[in-house]
Amino acid sequence: MFIRGVGRTKFGVLSQSLQEMAYEVIIKSLEDAELSIMDIDAIIISNFLGGPLSSQLHLNSVIASLLPDINIPILRVETACASSSIALNQAMYSLQDYDNVMVLGVEKMTSKSMVGQTESIQMAADKYLDQAQGLIFPANYALIAQQYMLKYGLEHEVLENVSYINHQNANLNPLAHFYYKKVNMEMIRKSPIIATPLILFDCSPVSDGAASLIISKEQNSDRNIKILSSQFITDTISLTQRKNLTSFKAAKIASKKAYKESGVSQDDVDILEVHDCFTISELIALEDLGFCEAGKASELIMNDEILRDGSIPVNIDGGLKANGHPIGATGLAQIYEVVTQLRGEAEKRQVEGVEVGMTHNIGGIGGTAAITILGAV
Ligand code: COA
Repeated sequence: MFIRGVGRTKFGVLSQSLQEMAYEVIIKSLEDAELSIMDIDAIIISNFLGGPLSSQLHLNSVIASLLPDINIPILRVETACASSSIALNQAMYSLQDYDNVMVLGVEKMTSKSMVGQTESIQMAADKYLDQAQGLIFPANYALIAQQYMLKYGLEHEVLENVSYINHQNANLNPLAHFYYKKVNMEMIRKSPIIATPLILFDCSPVSDGAASLIISKEQNSDRNIKILSSQFITDTISLTQRKNLTSFKAAKIASKKAYKESGVSQDDVDILEVHDCFTISELIALEDLGFCEAGKASELIMNDEILRDGSIPVNIDGGLKANGHPIGATGLAQIYEVVTQLRGEAEKRQVEGVEVGMTHNIGGIGGTAAITILGAV
């Protein structure tokens, strides 16, 4: 199976509506794939918060209304922040019956106040065990960071470096939420506390945005990208139900399955996109995916191994931290970056000699984990 075309909007606080963003990426991915909408047999949409933040559900029909006289099957997938990687996974099954399927992730998050946004994002956590206790997402990840610090003696300086590197990468990505923002270490260190030990610059922002791709059974150009594996695994929803807070079991299992399915090992991966919704999760991702042992990710970070010219370049688009995190589009944006790098079209942020890329997309606090491995044709 191949990715034939990709498209994305800019991420950030956008004036566009959910429908306008969706329309933009439908057109962009069709143009990139050199296909017409008439060639598309089905669409899988990924969206998390259309109901609470845009008062809009029945999104399959909303998308059909953007495409008059196109009557094809359209379906919405929701698995919190991992929704769009899982939409891709499900779209691959539908290629058994179809030739070309579009996967479309879209999220409008900034239409409500910060309180409204936080309450809505909370729906990805357990109603009784998390929501009722005030365990909003920054608080949950703060508990994880506290545990990690206790267990492995992590200093906050390492998290500051993760933030700095992601912001530097975003400065080379014109579509990133924080493309415009010049960030230095002092700004990061002095930023306000959100949930101890996490400060503002440890958090991904609340972003609007959309991304889309078209997958096909047949290859039609050397710009197509091969899907080597797509795997996902589910786990309990609340941290209170987990034995180990410093690792996501679902990510470990899904990545093992993806390495096996693709025949790819960590040494073969030339570029990695991980779900750094909070800086601590970038460390956990590197460990869960087997790029280092548990507790050792700080060595990769402090030794510059995750930079563009390092041994494993990570989040070259800026990651969720600085590229942005429009929840239902995030996994597809990670895949967009890997596709762009594999095609050699990433301009100033191009990593040399990319042949295999991998994405790691987490839903909630590790309740869902999706891994995608892609290769050049
Ligand atoms: N990192 C860096 N800067 C940020 C930022 C972030 N995460 N979020 C906002 N800012 C900046 C804004 O650009 C703005 O800068 P400016 O004054 O130069 O324009 C300033 O901070 C204030 O922005 P505002 O939108 O008022 O911030 P806020 O206080 O409402 O929100 C957070 C900050 C951290 C609470 C919010 O970004 C958040 O909730 N993030 C986590 C989202 C989340 O949980 N996602 C799901 C993860 S699984």
